Amino acid sequence: MHSSQASRVVLVTGASSGIGLACVELLSARGHVVYGTSRHPPPEQPARYRLLELDVTREDSVRRAVDTVLEREGRIDVVVNNAGHALAGALEDTSVEEAWRQLDTNVLGVFRVCKAVLPAMRARRSGRIINIGSLGGVVGLPFQGFYSASKFALEGLTESLRQEVEAFGIQAALVQPGDVRTRLTDNRVRAKDSGEGSAYLAPFEKALGIIEKEERAGVPPEDVARCVLALMDAGDMPVRVSVGKLAQRAAVVAKTLLPAKAFEGLLMSMYGLKRRG
Ligand SMILES: NC(=O)c1ccc[n+]([C@@H]2O[C@H](COP(=O)([O-])OP(=O)(O)OC[C@H]3O[C@@H](n4cnc5c(N)ncnc54)[C@H](OP(=O)(O)O)[C@@H]3O)[C@@H](O)[C@H]2O)c1
Repeated sequence: MHSSQASRVVLVTGASSGIGLACVELLSARGHVVYGTSRHPPPEQPARYRLLELDVTREDSVRRAVDTVLEREGRIDVVVNNAGHALAGALEDTSVEEAWRQLDTNVLGVFRVCKAVLPAMRARRSGRIINIGSLGGVVGLPFQGFYSASKFALEGLTESLRQEVEAFGIQAALVQPGDVRTRLTDNRVRAKDSGEGSAYLAPFEKALGIIEKEERAGVPPEDVARCVLALMDAGDMPVRVSVGKLAQRAAVVAKTLLPAKAFEGLLMSMYGLKRRG
């Protein structure tokens, strides 16, 4: 049973800034028992929630954080898989190692956390997993190929997971934010070969300038946190929900309605790319 009044035990990865921070602040203010995580939690704990150390790229670190919550609270009702970072650069300029790091954090990180929490959720025949995807996981963004690939992967992973865990009383859903004003923009990693000497330098810099400008003008992270709260309180969670500026969310609909090449042309012009011929 899910009464929106009932206090639930929630684990939010990547809660030191941006969307994760907005989630732990909102959910703890609503009376939930909230554990956020960071790779480097500060020595002073916040008043309303706990911050645990967790690096989603390390299985032992994930296990330790999940075990800590289970030992203290006896259960985890909701997991918000939010930790992530963004890699930028033309695909040709991206090294296999850089691509791997992006997928390791954004995809395998979610996978590691799911594997760690599912046994306890199955035992209680209850639980919710909310994965923070992106509209960049619906539309392949130029010069963010592996970021988009990581978020496309989360779409498939979440769809598969939902079907597997339903019989155990567990639900999963995806949140697809458009541009959100967070530290993601300043924290973005640029592929090492994307600078001087790259054949893509001019269009890359132009597109990245547009991407960063849009992000800085994006919706506040609190909008995404409210969306997470609504999912927690929903009777049955939908497969996915988008959040952000209407024009960006409309792109998801436009992709299904327009011929693929026409949609691609629109996208290219949005990012300052010229169509050949
Ligand atoms: N901002 C946007 O426009 C936007 C749009 C769509 C989707 N998203 C998604 O929203 C999520 C949150 O991003 P944000 O925008 O809030 O960015 P942010 O402000 O940079 O926050 C990222 C969070 O992820 C954590 N993190 C990064 N690498 C980690 C790792 N290996 N292990 C554990 N935690 C890690 C960081 O924590 P520590 O550094 O303290 O460990 C930080 O708390 C990401 O999945 C992102 O892809 C963002």
